[in-house]
Amino acid sequence: MKIQATTQQIEKIKTDLVAVLLTKEEADQKTTKTEWEKQVVQAKDFHGESGSSSVLYNIGALTSPRVVLVGLGDQKKCSLEEIRKGAAVAIQTARALNIETMSIVFPHALKSEADVARVLTEGVVLGNYSFSKYKTRDPKDKDLKEVSILADGTTIRAAITNAQTVCANVNMVRDLANENADEATAVNIAQTAARIAKETGIKCTIFDEKKLKSMGMNLICAVNQGSAVPARMVILEYAGDPRSSRKVALVGKGITFDSGGLNLKPTGSIENMKEDMSGAAIVLGTLKTCAELHIRKNVIGILPLTENPIGSRAYKPGDIFKSYAGKTVEIANTDAEGRLILADALAYTTSVMKPDFVVDVATLTGMAQYTFADVVIAMMTNNSVLGQKMRNAGEKTFERVWELPIYEEYKEHVKSDFADLRNSSKSKYAGTITAALFLQEFVNNVPWVHLDIAGVSWGEKNSKYLPMGATGTGMRLLVEFLQS
Ligand code: BES
Ligand code: MG
Ligand code: ZN
Repeated sequence: MKIQATTQQIEKIKTDLVAVLLTKEEADQKTTKTEWEKQVVQAKDFHGESGSSSVLYNIGALTSPRVVLVGLGDQKKCSLEEIRKGAAVAIQTARALNIETMSIVFPHALKSEADVARVLTEGVVLGNYSFSKYKTRDPKDKDLKEVSILADGTTIRAAITNAQTVCANVNMVRDLANENADEATAVNIAQTAARIAKETGIKCTIFDEKKLKSMGMNLICAVNQGSAVPARMVILEYAGDPRSSRKVALVGKGITFDSGGLNLKPTGSIENMKEDMSGAAIVLGTLKTCAELHIRKNVIGILPLTENPIGSRAYKPGDIFKSYAGKTVEIANTDAEGRLILADALAYTTSVMKPDFVVDVATLTGMAQYTFADVVIAMMTNNSVLGQKMRNAGEKTFERVWELPIYEEYKEHVKSDFADLRNSSKSKYAGTITAALFLQEFVNNVPWVHLDIAGVSWGEKNSKYLPMGATGTGMRLLVEFLQS
């Protein structure tokens, strides 16, 4: 799909559909300026309610055959998110009507043109996504080929291009997480990362299973033990500011399928576990975006990748392993595997790569979903300044984060009788927090933010610009966080 700004007039443009996003006040306006507005606003069943839409045909003043009116709700309450959602409604109307070209009137409900252009594009590109690779295509089906935004100016154009790059990469993250686990394996994801790195000028190093073993990344190797596919760790280095020695590290959980291991997940919990590499996909998408947008930051991406399989050779509860950091870990539950691979990856990142700070992103605990459902990302951090920055980035992208405390008292939960640490708490409470406390043992006191995306990474149904299946939520957050 091509998306572009055009200076063509709405009366003259001939696309299959024209979308107009209106607040309640705009929809009920009695004194409209132009003829087309008068004709469109006369639609009796449309009052600009948030989430509402109405399709009209053969408006005399327009060349395009159809118009979709999309409601933005009260003018006073209208936010950028409202426009993002409105654009997605417009796109979904176009898809439902099976048409190929559409234009969108630039909404004037909000002042900042650059922000409006950005969220409009986000709604369009993210809302146009569906995972259709494995569906037999109906020969009558058409793809939306072209979306024209009726607006002008270099700021608007730049905002559209930028947002398009970001969102195309969010859609790539979604594709990776939706892909069959036997396709998106550790080896194949590492290969994909290497290809992307080559195309975008990012340095890429891949540790294979032998290297991981010889380095003492025994926690990653333990999780991988029963797998037919060997583990990988990918290190991406993007030098966007070569004159500076400052660098940020991003670490993403890359479990290509989480069966739970011998502590096997039951029916009802196992079905979507191909998405357990969403964190790694997000880190890859973020690095790609940094390179494509020439973001002036040095960013490192670390992707520990392995399946968590069941089988006769799989690692076992009760086993004790020595981590890369030297601390020993008792396996209390083979389903608490994410923190194991992240522990080795974080220890390596902080001790060898020596970043100024590190962010990890992981589908880590089902408890995050119990706490926040699919609305908020759980954040835990040892640095309040970074935490505040992440919160701001969350508000701007609407990938909102909320902090949970990692107080000393919780440390009791990750202490083991036979090893330095245990990977799962004895208590059934505060699982999201205790997982973070486990990770904190491996960050070498480097300023660190942990994002638990288990609640937001998968959608149960299509919802505006968020699709059913993998959502890619967290990638726009990281890009905004790096840019701010
Ligand atoms: N990958 C899961 C967490 C998860 C759950 C992600 C639901 C997405 C949706 C993780 O590896 C896991 O199994 N966590 C366990 C930890 C427990 C054994 C301490 C959990 O949350 O139950
Ligand atoms: Mg698990
Ligand atoms: Zn997992």
